[in-house]
Amino acid sequence: MKSLDNINRRFILKASVSLVTATTSLAVLANSSIAITPKQPEGPFYPIKPQQDKDLDLTEVQGSTKPAKGEIIEVTGTVFDQDNRPLANAVVDIWQANAAGRYAHEQDSNDAPLDPNFQGWGIVKTDERGFYRFKTVKPGAYQVSKQWSRPPHIHFKVAKRGYRELITQMYFSGEMLNDTDALLQEAPAEQRHQLIVDFSTAKDNMAKQGVFNLVLAKI
Ligand SMILES: [Fe+2]
Repeated sequence: MKSLDNINRRFILKASVSLVTATTSLAVLANSSIAITPKQPEGPFYPIKPQQDKDLDLTEVQGSTKPAKGEIIEVTGTVFDQDNRPLANAVVDIWQANAAGRYAHEQDSNDAPLDPNFQGWGIVKTDERGFYRFKTVKPGAYQVSKQWSRPPHIHFKVAKRGYRELITQMYFSGEMLNDTDALLQEAPAEQRHQLIVDFSTAKDNMAKQGVFNLVLAKI
């Protein structure tokens, strides 16, 4: 009986080791896929007025000699699929408030001034490495109601055939309003960091840069 007990024990031990190995392999496999970027509401200010100039430089409007007001920043990033593969030719569409926190949109009743030299809207396609880049100004915060002010943010809409369109918002790290923003809080706590970008670094007196990578889900 004793030896049979030993055999059983050894068998159980072996089985447990195999189970641990199998679980580890599964975990490694799972790690090769990456988390889809959390969705955020589109909001009421997606541009509705046709606009000629929607290029990657939002700080200059075609035909104008003055640049936009505000702190110039560069937003770059890569669009990936869930398997961590960069997606070429994805359409990246951004829109945002100007430096004073005002959208060039008729629904925006905020009395902050419009900036005629701010483009406010840009659409680019990712290159063969899935990379995109925009030059813009840091948007201002704006009040939605007496109790709620939105932190600076940029709206994103990203599309590619074969993938679910992603509508989200990018936020700036270190903003106090991030902690109380009703929309940012809608993102799952463990994924919120995917929407918050650090713009503290600037290369050789150039504009501050932030990297906002986006992950699309396959249809
Ligand atoms: Fe907004």
